[in-house]
Amino acid sequence: MSSENRTSIPNSLQEHWMPFTSNKDFKDNPRLITEAKGVYLKNHHGKTQIDASSGLFCNPLGHGRKEIINAISKQLEQLDYAQPFQQGFGGSFELATRISKHTPGNLNRIFFSTGGSDAVETAIKISIAYHKAKGQGERFRIVGRERAYHGMHIGGTSVGGMINNVKTFASILMPGVVHMRHTHLPEHKFVKGQPETGLELANDLERIASNFGSENIAACIVEPIAGSTGTLVPPKGYLKRLREICDKHGILLIFDEVITGWGRTGSPFAAQEFGVIPDMITMAKATTNGIVPMGAVAAKEEIYDSIMDASPKGAVELFHGYTYSGLPIAVAAGLAVQDIFEKENLFKKVKEMSPYFLDGLFSLKDLEAVGNIRGYGMMGGIDMKLKEKPGKAGFECFKACYDVGVNFKATGDCLIIAPQFICEKKHIDEIIEKLRTGISNYMKK
Ligand SMILES: Cc1ncc(COP(=O)(O)O)c(C=O)c1O
Repeated sequence: MSSENRTSIPNSLQEHWMPFTSNKDFKDNPRLITEAKGVYLKNHHGKTQIDASSGLFCNPLGHGRKEIINAISKQLEQLDYAQPFQQGFGGSFELATRISKHTPGNLNRIFFSTGGSDAVETAIKISIAYHKAKGQGERFRIVGRERAYHGMHIGGTSVGGMINNVKTFASILMPGVVHMRHTHLPEHKFVKGQPETGLELANDLERIASNFGSENIAACIVEPIAGSTGTLVPPKGYLKRLREICDKHGILLIFDEVITGWGRTGSPFAAQEFGVIPDMITMAKATTNGIVPMGAVAAKEEIYDSIMDASPKGAVELFHGYTYSGLPIAVAAGLAVQDIFEKENLFKKVKEMSPYFLDGLFSLKDLEAVGNIRGYGMMGGIDMKLKEKPGKAGFECFKACYDVGVNFKATGDCLIIAPQFICEKKHIDEIIEKLRTGISNYMKK
C-alpha cells in the first residue's frame, strides 16, 4: 500500500518483529493504537483509553501538543538535517543551555544521544575516558545494581539487572561489571514514598570496592528510583551513602534519570529531589515529550575539562557520537518542551498532584490479587500476586485493563503507572477507577 493510502489497520502483521512483545499472542489478538490527544488514546476498535503511563514515561505534557508539532514543522522547513561532526547548528547549543539551567550542581556539559540506551553507553564511555585523561586508565569496572534497567545496548544490558534481559546475552556482556543488591526488601510492603529501612544496602559499593580494588572502579550507575522494575524508591539516606562511598574512592556516580528526569518526582531531576548530586545524569524520553527520539548526558564541568585538557587543540577529544546527536527536529521538540515546562510550571504541578495520585493508587490495596504497591511523585508500581509462572498475572491484568480502557505498561508482574503531568483530579480518578475494574475483571477470569 502506498504511504498516501496508508490506514491505521495494516494488511499484514507478520513482517514486523515487535520489541519486548509476545509476538505470537499479539498477532492472534492485536492491540493497535490509532489516535492520541491529551490524556487519551484510541484503539483500532474505536475505543477510548486513558493513558496511565505517559506511554513509556515519555509524554508527560500530553499527546498531540500543538506547540511541539509546530516547532518540529518549522524546523523541518528551515533545516531538516545537518551532520553533527566538526560542525553544528544553533539549536542544539541553545537546548544544551536550557537543559543545563535545570541540572543540579555544575552538570553543565550536555552530550546529545538518540535515546536512553545511547545515553547510558555515552555515560559509561565518558567515565572511562575521564579516568584515562586523569592518568587512571586502570579504572575499568562499572558497578550496577540488581533489578536495574539501563536500556538494551551491551553496556546498559551488562550494568542492568533484570534477569530476562540478560539471560540470552550472557556470553557477550561487557566485562568488569559488578552488581550491588537491589533495595526491594520484604518489609517494604505498601510503603508510600521512601522506605525507612535499607540504607545499609548502599554499603555493597564499599564491599565491592574492597573486594575488587577501588582503584579499578570507574563508575557506579543507578536509577535514583528504579522505574522499569516497578518504582523501587530508594531507602532514606541510601543515595547519599552511595555518594559518600564514591567520593571516598574516586568513583564517578551516574544517575540514570531517563525516567525520573524532567519532573517525574516533582523536581527537575531526582538528584535535586533527594539532595544528592551525581557526576553525570542520563536523560531521554520526556526531553522531547517522547515525540522524537533524543537522549542526553549531563556531565560535571570537571569531567568535560579533564577530557578537553588531555588532548591538544585540533584533536577530537572524545571519539564518540551519533549520526542523530542533536538532530534538528529532536532539538526543536526539546526547546518547545522547555517552553511548556516553564509556562505551565509543571514540576510544581507534579508536587501538588502527587499526594492525590498516590492516595488513589494505594486505595487499590484491598484488591485480593494485588501483592504490593509502591509510589513516589507521579510514578507507581502495582505488583500482582504470582500466578502459575512469573509474568502471567501482569500480562493478563494488562489485557483486562486494556479492555476496560486504561492503557499502561506491565513489566513482569508489575503494572507501571505514571500519569501525565497535565492530568487533573478527574483523570486520576478515571485511571484508578478503571484499574479497579480491570484488576477485578482479571480476578474473575
Ligand atoms: C532508566 C532507563 N535507562 C535507559 C532506558 C533506555 O532508554 P531507550 O529505550 O530510550 O533506549 C530506559 C528505558 O525505559 C530506562 O528506563
